[in-house]
Amino acid sequence: MDKYVTIEEFRELRKKLFTDEHPHTLGEYEGVQLDSGICEMMDELKSFKVRADDCWIVSYPKAGTTWVQEIVFCAMHDGNLQEVNKTHTKLQVPFLEHSMPEEVRRLKNLPPTHRIADEMPSPRVIKSHLPGQLLPPQIWTKKAKIVYVIRNPKDLMVSYFYFENLLNLKGAGLPFEEYLEYRNSNKASEGSWWDHYLYFWKRRHQPNVLLLRFEDLKRDLRGNVETISRFLGKALSAKTLDDITEHCSFDNMKSNPMINPDYLLSTDERPGRSFMRKGKSGSWKTHFTVAQNEAMDALIKEKLHGTGLTFDH
Ligand code: A3P
Repeated sequence: MDKYVTIEEFRELRKKLFTDEHPHTLGEYEGVQLDSGICEMMDELKSFKVRADDCWIVSYPKAGTTWVQEIVFCAMHDGNLQEVNKTHTKLQVPFLEHSMPEEVRRLKNLPPTHRIADEMPSPRVIKSHLPGQLLPPQIWTKKAKIVYVIRNPKDLMVSYFYFENLLNLKGAGLPFEEYLEYRNSNKASEGSWWDHYLYFWKRRHQPNVLLLRFEDLKRDLRGNVETISRFLGKALSAKTLDDITEHCSFDNMKSNPMINPDYLLSTDERPGRSFMRKGKSGSWKTHFTVAQNEAMDALIKEKLHGTGLTFDH
């Protein structure tokens, strides 16, 4: 992607998004709420050419995508951190459906992200927040590797609440109570978290799928780095696994300008507000009231009942 746009240019383009001129709006595609710009792209994405040696990072936003993406990218490059740090992860890992609006892209002749991905050499790491049923169908016929990340939905709510406010997305400005209602409905972007999770939960035993939990990465990052490497068919040395683990700690990712998205998202101008917010499990405990917690428990029970998917408290 850096063939088309430098980090600085990307940042300038990105600044034009989610402003009064280009507000964040949602549309509906096959029953799912998505950014309006993404809706326009969706028909085209159905014929996106997937490669068997791709690794896709798929998730509901705020589940730990950037974290897993970095581990995958490092493992894919055999732990060559010099190569990994060459440019920003946002330019190395295409976010499939997330192209800028036409008029913004035209300022720098930036093609839609999926066209850039078409030209990228193998093996590619591709990120998507699309619900499983909307991913390019070739993902299944080509049997590309898919790492799917889930996170306790209560923490997901808290993380997404801050993120929407940080980037001025559709749900920004809502009090937390109303935000919970919005994000727990089918009216939220990317659809409901439970449909998103369950699509992959049901497919978690397929050989090309690796389902990971944010909470497990927090408990044992090194073990998960090893699991991911093996899934990618990489037999990395203990030293390399250690190095990737170190590189992917919260503090190191936050202080690495080639990973932390703040600069590219122009969020660094507002002190105390960062994409790399807390990086912890259990943030919900200081955000949910007793009543909100009970309501969320009831929702989780209703939606996940009988599926075997549960979350630690
Ligand atoms: P918080 O908002 O709870 O801090 P995504 O990449 O899917 O948008 O997820 C972002 C969340 O993952 C944020 O959660 C962010 O801080 C957290 N995160 C990113 N990298 C991390 C890391 N190395 N360790 C722990 N959490 C990380």
